[in-house]
Amino acid sequence: MQQLSSSDQVALSAVRLATEQDIPAIQRLINANLDKLLPRTDEEIRELLPTWWVAVEDGEIVGTCCLEVYSPKIAELRSLAVSDRARGKGYGAALVKVATDTAQALGIRQVLVVTSTPEFFEALGFGTALGEKYALFWNGSGSVRAHNASKADQ
Ligand SMILES: CC(C)(COP(=O)(O)OP(=O)(O)OC[C@H]1O[C@@H](n2cnc3c(N)ncnc32)[C@H](O)[C@@H]1OP(=O)(O)O)[C@@H](O)C(=O)NCCC(=O)NCCS
Repeated sequence: MQQLSSSDQVALSAVRLATEQDIPAIQRLINANLDKLLPRTDEEIRELLPTWWVAVEDGEIVGTCCLEVYSPKIAELRSLAVSDRARGKGYGAALVKVATDTAQALGIRQVLVVTSTPEFFEALGFGTALGEKYALFWNGSGSVRAHNASKADQ
């Protein structure tokens, strides 16, 4: 098993389950990153509180993420954001670790993420292939590759 550095441990100990009172701060973090994240309603966050986490630094919420469990087999990691001033301190990785550890504890073998920041997740053990299997998208209007090719032709 990989050893955690002391800064990893500090970041990990800053992560706790979110509460109802955290919802406004979670909304601020999500809304500051709408170029990367989809908006969430307070109601959606409330329903997901059993698998929604925050990272806290000096009493302030500086990071968040959640795990949406779709079935006993698969869950999606969503709404991951760390505030600008707290980036690079390990909070993002710590939030992903707590979410994936929770998935593992629940017996969920597949955690997916849809992201425009694949390098961040690849460094944490995510990949497009699972053995001989690949995750592919169907977006309702033909393959993603065909869509991109037709855009390039324009
Ligand atoms: C992506 C994000 C959550 C990373 O948070 P963070 O707290 O800065 O990340 P960490 O400090 O835990 O970094 C862990 C590692 O990932 C790397 N990393 C951080 N951001 C990265 C990025 N955008 N692309 C690639 N690698 C990145 C770090 O260099 C670090 O590597 P190291 O361990 O070798 O030093 C943060 O930049 C963010 O909120 N971005 C906007 C929202 C977003 O993109 N969310 C993900 C979409 S699902």
